[in-house]
Amino acid sequence: MTEIIRIERLHKIFRIGKVEVPALRGVNLRVEDGEFVSLVGPSGCGKSTLLHVIGGLTAPTSGRVIVDGMDLGQMSDGLRTQLRKKKIGFVFQRFNLLPTLTAWGNIALACHIAGNRNGNSRAEMQAVIKMLGLEARMGHRPYELSGGEQQRVAIARAVVNRPKIILADEPTGNLDTENSELVLNMLCELNHKFGQTILLITHNPEVSTFTDRIVNMRDGHILES
Ligand SMILES: Nc1ncnc2c1ncn2[C@@H]1O[C@H](COP(=O)(O)OP(=O)(O)OP(=O)(O)O)[C@@H](O)[C@H]1O
Ligand SMILES: [Mg+2]
Repeated sequence: MTEIIRIERLHKIFRIGKVEVPALRGVNLRVEDGEFVSLVGPSGCGKSTLLHVIGGLTAPTSGRVIVDGMDLGQMSDGLRTQLRKKKIGFVFQRFNLLPTLTAWGNIALACHIAGNRNGNSRAEMQAVIKMLGLEARMGHRPYELSGGEQQRVAIARAVVNRPKIILADEPTGNLDTENSELVLNMLCELNHKFGQTILLITHNPEVSTFTDRIVNMRDGHILES
């Protein structure tokens, strides 16, 4: 198997005035291409911070992050942004859809941002929308959708460009059991069908049983399994 994410001795210290908050304290992690990994641990242990650093949204204080063979610390901001657009799809707990755009508009915007202007992007969008059971909702704005539907639109948006890596921060945190299962089944299907690597944060032990491997975090560290 090939390695798609490698993290070495990663530290992140947030500074608020004179106060230092160490969020990551020497994290080492390897994720193989195509793996579905869940990241679990108590509130405040650094899960979201780790995901944001992997996705190039937050700069680490020290340490190395290598994504698909590229060392984020050695890249310019512009290149890092390109890498994020092309290779990474984010799904957040709060769906973060643009309220003025329809479901279709939200997904199409993601295609556009990734520079996906080739002829098959429309077909690609339709395939993803069908897979997520959203065909009848494309003309709706986010406030006209249920929480589960909004999250499925957010997933469609994250995966439509077939990013190699999907980073999901508690994507089922705001959903009821039925919708949580639906969303997780979707993620499993994407992982199986397209071999996309998924890193999923969850508080729910049942959710982590869906995944290939569970990574446990405490106080900015990853516990040895
Ligand atoms: N932008 C920030 N500025 C200052 N401190 C921060 C910032 N983001 C996170 N922290 C702190 O870093 C630590 C780790 O936060 P993080 O959001 O990564 O935790 P988490 O494991 O995702 O928690 P939760 O399960 O509650 O989402 C916490 O102590 C938090 O207060
Ligand atoms: Mg978090």
